Amino acid sequence: MDAKTFGYLYYKTRDYLRADIIREARLTEEEYDFYEENLKLVLEEIYRDRVISENIGGDFVRLTRYIYDRISDQESGKTRPDAIKTRSGEIVSLPAVGAIEHSSMSLSQAISQRRSLRKYAPGELSAEELSWLLWSCSWARDFRSNERMEITLRNVPSAGARHPFECYLMVRKVKGIKPGLYYYHPVKHCLVLINENSEVFAKIEDGCFNQEMVTNAPVTFIWTAVPYRTAWRYGQRGYRYLYLDAGHVGQNLHLAAEAIEGGACMIGAYLDELMNEILEVDGVNEFVIYIAAVGKKQEK
Ligand SMILES: Cc1cc2nc3c(=O)[nH]c(=O)nc-3n(C[C@H](O)[C@H](O)[C@H](O)COP(=O)(O)O)c2cc1C
Repeated sequence: MDAKTFGYLYYKTRDYLRADIIREARLTEEEYDFYEENLKLVLEEIYRDRVISENIGGDFVRLTRYIYDRISDQESGKTRPDAIKTRSGEIVSLPAVGAIEHSSMSLSQAISQRRSLRKYAPGELSAEELSWLLWSCSWARDFRSNERMEITLRNVPSAGARHPFECYLMVRKVKGIKPGLYYYHPVKHCLVLINENSEVFAKIEDGCFNQEMVTNAPVTFIWTAVPYRTAWRYGQRGYRYLYLDAGHVGQNLHLAAEAIEGGACMIGAYLDELMNEILEVDGVNEFVIYIAAVGKKQEK
């Protein structure tokens, strides 16, 4: 779904009038007529889902409470999921973790000065700084694999060490790394280029509702969740853990950004369908769960 389609559906489902929808969603008259003609089924689905999801939050909590008699796929011997996925493409090495000169900032200072940062210095991040940021939130310090279990261990905690996240980066300004969309390999600590077409930037910006931080951040982190990694062990309750795990990832990135005189802004407002489409993930077995724009502070 692109931003215009979203705009039409958003305002239409809020009962805006034709002229208002055209203005707010920045449509032409022809585009409006096209959507009216072609999105009837989509609208019907939205209205149907609305009824079903009326109490989805409460139902989710109730239906994912600890149910002791439930046998998980792990307990019943189902094949274990892989701990990381593979993406093919041009490999881009990163400086080794630990290559960065550490500032002497204390942890208490990093915690107390952390704020969401939405405007960044115009320059590039260094590759060492990017390596440091990745180390803090997504790097795997260990990888263990056998027939029954495969896990990574990282600098963030994760329920059952399932680490259900994959990390993608929209690199705009990092020294020595060409702009593009990358997949981060947490064990090999390298990037895999998956899209260097300049259009991908505009799409991601659209997918994040053109929020200012995404349009000017040197790097934007996009994490997807692979829910079965966690659900294999915990069943549907595992879905709760995805969101708990994600918070740790975000906070480590926040603090690591502070330590290099930078900052981050977490992003929960994004267009799911579009972001999933851009990353070429299906939205069910893998879906975008969290986004963060990161850059250096502007000089005062
Ligand atoms: C889950 C989550 C989603 C967020 N989504 C957005 C977002 O889409 N856009 C934005 O500008 N800020 C977003 N933020 C940042 C919050 O607005 C910010 O943390 C809050 O206003 C408190 O400010 P502080 O982080 O500077 O303390 C998000 C934060 C979290 C934790």
